[in-house]
Amino acid sequence: MANRPVYILGLGSIGSFIAQSLRSLAVPPPVTLLVHRQSLFKELSANDWKLGLRVGEAGALKQSSGFNAELLGKTNSSTSPIRDLIVAVKASATVTALEPFKDRIGRDTTICLFQNGLGQIDDLNERLFPDPSTRPTYMCGVIRHGVYLKSASEAILSGPNGCVDVGFVDGDSTRRDRFLVDTLVRSPILRCTELRKADLIKVQLLKLATNCVLNPLTALLDVRNGELLENSALQPLQRQLLEEISAVFQNLPEMKNLDYDRSQFSVTSLETTLHDTVEKTAHNSSSMREDVRKGRSTEIDNINGWIVKRGKELGIDCPVNTCLTQLILAKNR
Ligand SMILES: NC(=O)c1ccc[n+]([C@@H]2O[C@H](COP(=O)([O-])OP(=O)(O)OC[C@H]3O[C@@H](n4cnc5c(N)ncnc54)[C@H](OP(=O)(O)O)[C@@H]3O)[C@@H](O)[C@H]2O)c1
Repeated sequence: MANRPVYILGLGSIGSFIAQSLRSLAVPPPVTLLVHRQSLFKELSANDWKLGLRVGEAGALKQSSGFNAELLGKTNSSTSPIRDLIVAVKASATVTALEPFKDRIGRDTTICLFQNGLGQIDDLNERLFPDPSTRPTYMCGVIRHGVYLKSASEAILSGPNGCVDVGFVDGDSTRRDRFLVDTLVRSPILRCTELRKADLIKVQLLKLATNCVLNPLTALLDVRNGELLENSALQPLQRQLLEEISAVFQNLPEMKNLDYDRSQFSVTSLETTLHDTVEKTAHNSSSMREDVRKGRSTEIDNINGWIVKRGKELGIDCPVNTCLTQLILAKNR
């Protein structure tokens, strides 16, 4: 077990943070960084494959080392099977990022997606792993840390009190290999808790509802999160978004047999969760606002776009979510 490597795909803020959390364990697993850009490979290798983390800009720099690395597309790239894979690319890049590794992924692989948004697993199954008998097992991590990169080899964690909820999200409990989840929950800095499937899906949906309001509105208006509570002209729009989202959530077939309190998806409850997050992050600039500002593609298809898609399947009209999705896509052109 001690020599079983954990692979990490997506070496931005979250991927770098998780890589360091794993290498700084008392008994760390080998960690292999899957690097997709030659320039990033050069930058990390110039720093002797050390990754640094500060808690707060002024915090002490803690460095982790001993990483292995593979550069995508190199002629002698490894073909060895990948058992444990953490994916921390943006939701919209998931299929493209995993495509080069699909032949190394099979029914013995556990993939943990550390991402915002929903729909990535359906996309992976449809486009890369169509055969249910050879598909990987999926886990998801819901991140409540704030992390950004100062450079490729230095991440800043906004504070020590964030946390992660993690767990298995697909059906067949007999196929679950616990190595990855047991490794993740050992990390004191990740502050990772394993949730049962019903609880994890509920947490994902509540986070999605908040992101569906916060991300596109802050991006379109180019404001910090706190503006959503201060600007009374935005309240009716926020309520309409949440009404559509609540209707979709309450009719999702995958939630039908799960044991959870349905009132958590009422409009009032979603609104309380949203207001709580906006108050706590009032001074923050949302990731979608930053993506739009920097001309990068956004995660809108996996946020409001997912509500629209599921609404269509369920016969529930979601005109306000559709409109915001289209406006964000138009901004990106
Ligand atoms: N950062 C946070 O505080 C935070 C908090 C909660 C949730 N999240 C969520 O966590 C996820 C990751 O966020 P992040 O902040 O870490 O994003 P990020 O900093 O943009 O990192 C994404 C990384 O993926 C890389 N990438 C893009 N395409 C790739 C490909 N085809 N193959 C391999 N790597 C590829 C990017 O490289 P390039 O530089 O070449 O683009 C980048 O290094 C997102 O879903 C985000 O919403 C983040």
